[in-house]
Amino acid sequence: MEKLVITGPTPLKGEIFVSGAKNSAVAILPATLLIDGICTIKNLPNISDVRITCEILEGLGAKINWIDKNTIEVDTRDINNTIAPIDLTRKFRASYYLIGSMLGRKKEIEVGLPGGCNLGARPIDQHIKGFEALGAKVEIISGNVCARAEKLIGNTVYMDMVSVGATINIMLAGVLAEGTTIIDNAAKEPHIVDIANFLNTMGADIRGAGTDTIKINGVTKLKGGQTYSVVPDQIEAGTFMLGAVASRGDLIIKNCVPEHLECITAKILEIGGNVEINGDSIHVWCDTKPNKANVKTLPYPGFPTDLQPQIGVVLSLADGTSIINESIWESRFQYTNELNKMGAKITAQGKSAIFEGVDNLYGASVYSTDLRAGAALIIAGVCATGTTEIYNLHHIDRGYENIEEKFRLLGANIERIIE
Ligand code: EPU
Repeated sequence: MEKLVITGPTPLKGEIFVSGAKNSAVAILPATLLIDGICTIKNLPNISDVRITCEILEGLGAKINWIDKNTIEVDTRDINNTIAPIDLTRKFRASYYLIGSMLGRKKEIEVGLPGGCNLGARPIDQHIKGFEALGAKVEIISGNVCARAEKLIGNTVYMDMVSVGATINIMLAGVLAEGTTIIDNAAKEPHIVDIANFLNTMGADIRGAGTDTIKINGVTKLKGGQTYSVVPDQIEAGTFMLGAVASRGDLIIKNCVPEHLECITAKILEIGGNVEINGDSIHVWCDTKPNKANVKTLPYPGFPTDLQPQIGVVLSLADGTSIINESIWESRFQYTNELNKMGAKITAQGKSAIFEGVDNLYGASVYSTDLRAGAALIIAGVCATGTTEIYNLHHIDRGYENIEEKFRLLGANIERIIE
């Protein structure tokens, strides 16, 4: 069993280079299935979700050539299988993007029902509603999603709730459909724009990504032949911004898109931290105890749920009592039990939690309950007095590239140990 061992407290100081966005990469890779050709993808985060997605693509007939640890060439000319490796697809959430892209390319696909972090109920009814509106038939058989269509014909799909995954999936299905697909009440996250940019670079005709209404004019073929670089990871950048504040450190976070982080910047300023933007770098520092604040997670451009546990660490150490309302996931406060083992005073009930600020956290043995909980526990370990051991690292490795190396570069005393 692997664990991270962190001895603190250490203020994080120095410069850090943000990797490509996980949630963009895990959609762009399935999107390559729409291309009858070869493309090159750069700035891919080297994380386990990306490596598994590459294996799944190979199982469907794609040829993948790793040019370096963050760049691949994908040849999707010969997609000869319509049953995705079931065990692999069950391992993570984003395998549902195979449905939209394979419906587009081969009009047929079978995948294992998607897994991923346990954050409460994760239905895919909006995805299915979209595929059916375009003419597909979708059935769940023995825990697998089986989707097929004679042909896909563009239609208007109104999303009952803002869903990142359903917006991307319907966009994927619409690319090679006949006619125009319109997605109303679409999600607007930066990676939705990134995936639309990727598809347009390869020959698609998608307009309006990043707004409430996305219009996809179907094309007959994506030729590829282009190189595309994945957008920097908004959540990794935000993780380090909040790490700087929690540890009362001083970080320059490079290779990020500051516009994607405006709500984090605003929250950091509200709690008494400092933020300076310089091109694609963000300088964040904090030399006092942060002020209390209330946070409500919302779809973009609101405060991202994927940074909720990380700001939870900041508010655990703030002056006064703060409240976080989680409006996206049912069970995103599991990490609070772990933080309480470290001396935090958090009462979580349902979708809200009360954080009574404490002066110090203390090292303890804790379990990463999901990916972002893991990132929060690393920040907590860096801030805590004494030694923290973090278990369940597979969650963290799904989404952060070289996490302990990056924290070590910033001064953290952190080691990965195999027991
Ligand atoms: N929802 C439905 N029906 C659907 C789809 C979603 O009811 O068909 C509900 C969900 O249950 C949830 C809400 O709508 O309450 C939003 O879910 P969304 O579809 O936006 O989430 P997702 O696409 O499954 C992605 C990220 C998550 C991130 C959310 C919200 C990927 C692979 N995952 O999930 O990332 O929390 O958007 O921003 O892109 C993470 O990176 O740690 C992570 C969990």
